[in-house]
Amino acid sequence: MIESLLKTQVISPLETRFKMNQQLVHTVKLKFTKEFNSTPLMIFSPGRINIIGEHTDYNDGFVFPAAVDKGIVAGLFKSNSDQSTAYAIDKNEKIFFQAKDVKPSKSGTWHNYILGVVAEINKKNLPLGNFNIAFAGNIPRGAGMSSSAALENSVVFGLNELFGLNLSKEEMIFISQKAEHHFVGVNCGIMDQYASMFGIENNALHLDCRSIQANPFKIELGEYQLLLINTNVKHTLSDSAYNNRRAVCEHISKLLTIKALRDATKEMINSIQDQVSKEDYQKALFIIQENQRTIDASKAIIEGDLNRLGALFYQSHEGLQHLYKVSCEELDFLVDATRDNKNILGSRMMGGGFGGCTINLIKISEVPSFSKYISKVYFKQFNINCSIYDVNLSDGTHIIK
Ligand code: GLA
Repeated sequence: MIESLLKTQVISPLETRFKMNQQLVHTVKLKFTKEFNSTPLMIFSPGRINIIGEHTDYNDGFVFPAAVDKGIVAGLFKSNSDQSTAYAIDKNEKIFFQAKDVKPSKSGTWHNYILGVVAEINKKNLPLGNFNIAFAGNIPRGAGMSSSAALENSVVFGLNELFGLNLSKEEMIFISQKAEHHFVGVNCGIMDQYASMFGIENNALHLDCRSIQANPFKIELGEYQLLLINTNVKHTLSDSAYNNRRAVCEHISKLLTIKALRDATKEMINSIQDQVSKEDYQKALFIIQENQRTIDASKAIIEGDLNRLGALFYQSHEGLQHLYKVSCEELDFLVDATRDNKNILGSRMMGGGFGGCTINLIKISEVPSFSKYISKVYFKQFNINCSIYDVNLSDGTHIIK
């Protein structure tokens, strides 16, 4: 019984996935044409992974994400009626609005990613008119692979094209980010939107979140690969906990009279230790250490030192678990289950936390047996299936020809 359940959870190899993406494009195009009676402009906007550097982005620090070959496919075109329609194909839900006058939707969910982007474009007084959009995706919600940034970017990228808004890619990612701040209520950093927009095939981007400049790193791991394991849980409170972490970091920066924790050292936070709680001290300490690990990881990749990279994964997880406190039982279980496996060099939770995926550095030949093992023990422990994805690093948001 368990075995047969497990089989369905392993996502298929490259060629099958390429076909899955083609299928997605086909579906979106067909649904759009049927619904709106016009041929859409088609956009693909990817989700992302992050090699290392969690919660460092809103501290002006470094992150190391990459776009993947899963994401959102959106079809868009100008509306010939006096209203706009957004159609979430997967949910079979529609919303109607005036592009020039949008307000946050109370029912939340996907509505605000789209409405928020429209509102941010309006703030710039750009010539935006009514439009229709239909979209579908293949990133599981709550996987921590940024389906939300992928959706926001697909909207702003598509509207920029359709209405000739003349926005640069950098302006577009800030529009997407602000949509999330103002309409969704999550004070996210810039990592997700950047990676989704600027991704480069086979590369990860070592991004400086202060200068918004990235160095691409070709990811060649020899007999190793990256493997994601999705806990398939997303604990509530994750948004408020996220905003709380950001507020703590900003509070400590203020005490230190610096712009962001990227500028802090351990000595500096030690000097104000008596002015902050132990928990807040630990959070600041984590950011300083994680930022350094992100720099160290880029060196390890240049030197081809995968053992070092793997060790940094484990250290990152320990910090996220014990100092920054954004992990959860399911993530910790998945990481712990790799510790005695000599064919796995590193494992850590990925993304904002409280659920979603772990990212693992694993020997390619070990993947089948480890997948089987982890599926079995995870199900036994939590009575939920985990899902396993291998990743292909891909190009950022683009028009589908
Ligand atoms: C979420 C946010 C990002 C980043 C990560 C944690 O994905 O959207 O900006 O802060 O969490 O690294």
